[in-house]
Amino acid sequence: MADNIKKYWQNYINGDWVDGIDKDRISIENPATGKEVAEIARAKGNDVDLAVTAARACFESRELYNMRPTNRGLLMFEIARHLTEMADDIALTECLDNGKTIAGGKNEAMAAARYFTYYGGLADKLEGRMIPLGADYLDYTIPSPFGVSAQIVPWNFPLQIAARSVACALATANTVVLKSPELSPLSTYFIAEACHRAGVPAGAVNILCGFGHDCGADLVAHPDIDHIVFTGSVATGQSILRAAAERVIPCIMELGGKSAGILFEDADVDQAITSTASGIFSHAGQVCSAQSRLIVPTKMQDEVVEKMAAKANSLSIGPGIEGHDLTPVISGQQAEKIEGMCLAAAQAGAEAAAGGRRRDDMAGHFIEPTVFANVSPDMTIAREEVFGPVLAVLTYDDVDEAIALANGTDYGLCAGVYTKDLNTAHWAADRLSAGQVFVNEWFAGGIETPFGGTKRSGYGREKGQEALQNYVQTKNVGIRVTAGGGGRPGG
Ligand code: NAI
Ligand code: MG
Repeated sequence: MADNIKKYWQNYINGDWVDGIDKDRISIENPATGKEVAEIARAKGNDVDLAVTAARACFESRELYNMRPTNRGLLMFEIARHLTEMADDIALTECLDNGKTIAGGKNEAMAAARYFTYYGGLADKLEGRMIPLGADYLDYTIPSPFGVSAQIVPWNFPLQIAARSVACALATANTVVLKSPELSPLSTYFIAEACHRAGVPAGAVNILCGFGHDCGADLVAHPDIDHIVFTGSVATGQSILRAAAERVIPCIMELGGKSAGILFEDADVDQAITSTASGIFSHAGQVCSAQSRLIVPTKMQDEVVEKMAAKANSLSIGPGIEGHDLTPVISGQQAEKIEGMCLAAAQAGAEAAAGGRRRDDMAGHFIEPTVFANVSPDMTIAREEVFGPVLAVLTYDDVDEAIALANGTDYGLCAGVYTKDLNTAHWAADRLSAGQVFVNEWFAGGIETPFGGTKRSGYGREKGQEALQNYVQTKNVGIRVTAGGGGRPGG
């Protein structure tokens, strides 16, 4: 397989590939080497304006809306087909831009394609209701699109996160302006390419890349957008919500987490270790739904920590392209942030049973797979999102305390339960404040299962059939007829 990719990437606005109006570019770094892999056109406010204008015009033309929903679905199947055909290119691009393995990049491509088939298949199943008001009225609801959906995507899974919101928007006949993440934008451009090849109307899907403070902020404040989808940090989500409040725009907010798995005494410990390792070390922990905490019975702490540390130490560290288990974090800045949080944890009294350091001897941005024991619930490492391969182990003496610990952060995205007893699993799942609960396998679920947060993890749901409800607003039509009182033709 080739190990290089296109050196210059353009934005996709109104069905055309374009430079930024100011001709600026953003340099894209390979996090595994610290070297530039490509450049991308940099969009700013004036480019955002072009894209929103195109999306608005396409929406107002009603081209998507007027299509028979079945045909809109078929168009989305075509997008999926093109993404699948490009899967090898996508995998390599995502590997060099984002640091994933080739298998991880391929997974991005296939997940993205799946979003288009899943929601394409639902395009003709979003039905309104008929509401009975008696014989003299005909009353029904129409699930109506909002208009222009502004979508801001983070760098950890740029392609599949973009695909899940673009697919929902198209299925419901909204048009889209998507800002790809400045740290790893390239794979999202395959959505543009697939839309182009599939014959999606010009302006229906626009994809541009820029920085958050100008391009992103200008997009969410643009007077002609009607809907916002955001995945990223709480602070950025709050600033977007303020912009949305000015114009009363609905938002879907997916703001990360500090998700905990509770290990009950009867659990299969080895299964829990394997699951937790996948939950926290996959993609170097840069996963919003990562299992960043493990809550264990005090008397089992030594056994669990020892096994968890052995698992962490068994992982190979290196560039994704070489197929390593533990791949780099996205940037030098993220590596610094993660290292800083590890140092602070050690200073606060947590014990690094494995890892805890940045690999200064390696060219890219690598953090050792890390397991902290003796973590107390008030420590920052137990409360704040690290977004790196860092697990905090906490202990409990009774099961109510375990639930309280799991629920004891400002976040509530996911939670996990390790037990052999279905009653225990159900009891705990019912009490955990989280949008999604995994039992005995972290990340159990998929594109079909609704996903989103409670508390500061955000609101609105992505994935599954439920997500579509966030892309439509109900219009009720009440018609006065005269079926009961004299509607008979001819009097
Ligand atoms: P961020 O939330 O600032 O960036 C996410 C996206 O928002 C990017 O596309 C960025 O360009 C855009 N953005 C930034 N400021 C904006 C603004 N004012 N208006 C509109 N868009 C804006 O996250 P960042 O700084 O890259 O990472 C910091 C931390 O955020 C991470 O360490 C992690 O804890 C968390 N994070 C969580 C993610 C999740 O999946 N929930 C994804 C990325 C980051
Ligand atoms: Mg930022």
